[in-house]
Amino acid sequence: MPDAGPKSEPIVEVAGLRKVFGEHVAVDDVSFTVEAGSSLAIVGESGSGKTTVARMLSGLERPTAGTIRVCGRDRSRPVRRAAERRRRARELQIVFQDPYTSLDPREEVGDGLLELLALHQSERPREWRQERLMEMAELVGLDERHLRSRPGELSGGQRQRITIARALVSEPRIVILDESLASLDVSLQAQILNLLGDIREETGITYILISHDLAVVLQLATETLVMKDGRIVESGRTVDVLHSPEHPYTKLLCDSVPRRGWKPERALQGAESN
Ligand SMILES: Nc1ncnc2c1ncn2[C@@H]1O[C@H](COP(=O)(O)OP(=O)(O)OP(=O)(O)O)[C@@H](O)[C@H]1O
Ligand SMILES: [Mg+2]
Repeated sequence: MPDAGPKSEPIVEVAGLRKVFGEHVAVDDVSFTVEAGSSLAIVGESGSGKTTVARMLSGLERPTAGTIRVCGRDRSRPVRRAAERRRRARELQIVFQDPYTSLDPREEVGDGLLELLALHQSERPREWRQERLMEMAELVGLDERHLRSRPGELSGGQRQRITIARALVSEPRIVILDESLASLDVSLQAQILNLLGDIREETGITYILISHDLAVVLQLATETLVMKDGRIVESGRTVDVLHSPEHPYTKLLCDSVPRRGWKPERALQGAESN
């Protein structure tokens, strides 16, 4: 999709979102919108509620209060019908932190991908799906040997790439990446980041990126939210939030980037020229 221009419809709208587990308020009055084709990063310390927000967006967790609209449709209630579930899967996919939970340990990962293709692309002929499988594998840097492996026979990074391919199979409008790149080495991370950028240019896909790695955030996310104790403490354009943080917590976060050779100025120049 070509550049949608500055004023496009929000593809995700969240208002007054709240989640309480027992006595603990995990997410408290969270509101934000995401424009179609843009990408939003959610950053913040461990336990600040990032994954809980992502799980509510994907329908895995029911909000205690608040509303969620994705692609213009309300998602505050769980789905019952399979057709509706499939439609939602084509709207939004989530790639989890831990790839073990989303892969069947007994199944060759290529077969698993083909099953998903059959589910979401049922109208396409088998040859198309087989070809698409190879394309998807190539996209994330895996070969036929990997496709014939079971999850337990792959490395952590290879498994993570399989889950990214699985998320893209349904050609979703939105993909949530929850620490999905953290287990990859730097060169592979760069490769996947470039790939995600290319996919965005080609398809106008929207990303929601949860990451502790501010360099990754700078490269992929146009907007950034900072969460602390279940609340949004700061938000805005990524370059603004990370370059001149206003909230003391964001300042702390930017100062404590655990990366050697971290040069905010240099990274920001790169981001601004994007
Ligand atoms: N199913 C659950 N039951 C009870 N408490 C939960 C549940 N899921 C999350 N929590 C609590 O909610 C809070 C937010 O958790 P969440 O997983 O959203 O944090 P996070 O920001 O993703 O952290 P991290 O960066 O470590 O992944 C935590 O205090 C956590 O213990
Ligand atoms: Mg998390």
